[in-house]
Amino acid sequence: MTDRIVLAYSGGLDTTVAIPWIKERTGKDVIALAIDVGQAGEDLEQVRERALGSGAVESVVIDARDEFADDYLVPALKANALYQRRYPLVSALSRPLISKLLARTARELGANSIAHGCTGMGNDQVRFEAAVYALAPELNSVAPIRDLSLTRDVAIEYAEQHKLPIRQSKSSPYSIDQNMWGRAVETGFLEDPWNAPIEDLYEYTQDPTVDREPTEVLITFETGVPVALDGERLTMRQMVEKLNKLAGDQGVGRLDMVEDRLVGIKSREIYEAPAAIALIEAHTHLEDLTLERDVARYKRQVEVEWSNLVYDGLWYGGLKRSLDAFIDYTQQKVSGDVRLKLHQGRAVVTGRRSDESLYDYSLATYDTGNTFNQDSARGFIDIWSLPSRIAARRDKPEL
Ligand code: ARG
Repeated sequence: MTDRIVLAYSGGLDTTVAIPWIKERTGKDVIALAIDVGQAGEDLEQVRERALGSGAVESVVIDARDEFADDYLVPALKANALYQRRYPLVSALSRPLISKLLARTARELGANSIAHGCTGMGNDQVRFEAAVYALAPELNSVAPIRDLSLTRDVAIEYAEQHKLPIRQSKSSPYSIDQNMWGRAVETGFLEDPWNAPIEDLYEYTQDPTVDREPTEVLITFETGVPVALDGERLTMRQMVEKLNKLAGDQGVGRLDMVEDRLVGIKSREIYEAPAAIALIEAHTHLEDLTLERDVARYKRQVEVEWSNLVYDGLWYGGLKRSLDAFIDYTQQKVSGDVRLKLHQGRAVVTGRRSDESLYDYSLATYDTGNTFNQDSARGFIDIWSLPSRIAARRDKPEL
């Protein structure tokens, strides 16, 4: 029996050409696997057929939108995950799920390798392969673009010569990856980090500088998970889809940053992630109300570590799973409502309330009736500053 290989298939030029290319170069039969993580765009039935038309021996499509939302985006939101303080890990979150489905399909259909369309310069090659090996260490990987010299020019020429069923669409000068958590745009004129992005780049968001009425939304959380929007119960997927529209229409979630890739390169990236940014903003504010001070402070450090691990492709690793256990534990009381104003590119929290609130009006008020015992403050400061006072006696700080 010939070897079989499962290819993560997007339906685009590179992975379409990769099907006959892999067969030619390695002799392996190619099984195409297309996964819906909410990237929108094309009908996946067409994508499935294109793979068959390009020589795939089997073509499988999986709608993984709910699994992506529930098992990947919910943990990311609980972790308020932002890489380098900004990027909500859009691509980094889809890779572990796609990898799991690649590995599962390989096992089910008797393949011994997986393939993906990444170059050798980015994070995604690392994420795919590291995740697949963490789940199914017996599998091998092939990256036709990286390992089998399938450059873009070659792909275009090959597709024409072999009359492959390439989708006729306006060719984009950008490298784009998108799913329901956001959209990443790279290359082209953006490679000069001084060049400002143009309106043309954006699909999930409207121009935030246009004058329009603000949108107000009420998001209800239960144990860290957003469960209702303006009182309507929603699944995580529905929540993200609705907020992408509402926040996107107000231009929320645009990011322009220089980021440090795992492979050592600094790269300029444009992102738009309306729902992600709005939800993380709302969630952190509810945590401010419901988490104990030291838990909140420690969790912020864990969030940075969690985000770094996920960015670096270690989703299935022991440390990431252990941090998940910590984060989950912290979310037990993160229930309540957050009111958000979406306007001019920003998601601003204007109110929060919770049955689990640690905010105590009688302690916080400056009005009469305050119950905070101000007499004990003096003694507290005496002891709190004791180490500093002793050190000052010795060090005689200059004034
Ligand atoms: N830089 C981001 C990351 O590493 C996004 C990469 C997306 N890929 C793309 N072809 N635009 O997670």
